[in-house]
Amino acid sequence: MKLWDKGTAVNALIENFTVGKDRELDLYLAKFDVLGSIAHARMLATIDLLTENELSELQAELVEIYRIIEKGDFRIEEGVEDVHSQVELMLTRKLGDTGKKIHSGRSRNDQVLLDLKLFTRSEIQKLVSAVSELFEKLMAKAEANKQYLMPGYTHLQVAMPSSFGLWFSAYAESLVDDLVLLQAAFRITNQNPLGSAAGYGSSFPLNRQMTTDLLGFESMNYNVIYAQMGRGKMEKTVAFALSSVAATISKFAFDVCLFMSQNFGFVALPDELTTGSSIMPHKKNPDVFELVRSHCNKIQAIPYQISLMTNNLPSGYFRDLQILKEVFMPAFGELLDCISIVGFAIDQMSVNKDLLADDRYKYVFSVEDVNKLVQQGVPFRDAYKMIGASINAGTYEPGREINHTHEGSLGNLCLEQISDRMKNVIQSYDFRNIEKAFEWLLEQH
Ligand code: ARG
Repeated sequence: MKLWDKGTAVNALIENFTVGKDRELDLYLAKFDVLGSIAHARMLATIDLLTENELSELQAELVEIYRIIEKGDFRIEEGVEDVHSQVELMLTRKLGDTGKKIHSGRSRNDQVLLDLKLFTRSEIQKLVSAVSELFEKLMAKAEANKQYLMPGYTHLQVAMPSSFGLWFSAYAESLVDDLVLLQAAFRITNQNPLGSAAGYGSSFPLNRQMTTDLLGFESMNYNVIYAQMGRGKMEKTVAFALSSVAATISKFAFDVCLFMSQNFGFVALPDELTTGSSIMPHKKNPDVFELVRSHCNKIQAIPYQISLMTNNLPSGYFRDLQILKEVFMPAFGELLDCISIVGFAIDQMSVNKDLLADDRYKYVFSVEDVNKLVQQGVPFRDAYKMIGASINAGTYEPGREINHTHEGSLGNLCLEQISDRMKNVIQSYDFRNIEKAFEWLLEQH
């Protein structure tokens, strides 16, 4: 069944090639396609394109389809192009002419734009909650291990004292900024494209404010050409925010791999979280963190893939845009899996509590000793030279006691302040409003 069938059959090869992976990928969009259709139908009834009776029939049938999707029984049939066609087909099978009326004033171009925005909003909601759980785990680890010191590095050379509290909470604070960026992407997503139709609006007096409110959007993409231009722009913006989360996690994963190496031995995982080698009987490898690093690095390529796929397109719809779904939509699940396995591993990670007693790290105290001389009145450059000379002469013995007090230092991690920042970002996402809108759409009114 083709919505645009004009009586000539399409060549089967062309049909397969143009449908591509849509029958599989559009399943991600199915629920949202139905919610969008309910809002659209309600609006059509207010401008006399549907009677009250037709509206309530459509509403009941759409809710029925929604339940089928929820149960996991929804399929896009052989010969049906995409989710939009499948839903319309199911409506016309059940309701005849009434089903055929739902597409007045819209196009699959604004329908897929809408579905993608609703899908993305909902994935962002899952992501925010997963990131906030990971944040809590990192913060708990930081608090529990704040007194245990470790060497800090610059150029991968032993540099200054650090601590496990500092290390864990650095990644926690990084996640706060990632959610700030994600919030900007969320606001760009949270604008209604419906009513832009094929990209140039409609001669029907559509009430776009009404569908904006019904679907719980913050605002609409006003200009209909811009609404269509949002395809790709929204995905790229969100993908940059996903990349930011992914970059935090992949850097953490690299640290863990490095710090688990025997040459460091800073952190350890229980044996059942490591993997072995087929030839070397002693191996306990951090494969989980290596795979996380690779997934998260791959996710960071997505904004660039989207750029390349959209950069050379003028305004207006093109079928090129369909392939964006393949690049963009699976990224959320991939990132969520990484976040969840990293959280699982962090809970069970143990730290080496007496690292700095080892003489190989003794130079981490050199700046502490310089600073002590400065506090006794020696000018900094002279103190630096004195300690440097004792290091060169091989006579340097570190003081070992350290006293860092300023904000964000190992003696004053400011975990509460970091937690407050996280709370503020999370509160500024208005997910409840969206949930309420969807609940309302699914009730008969
Ligand atoms: N599968 C299509 C896509 O993702 C849906 C829109 C089709 N529109 C069209 N004009 N052929 O872009």
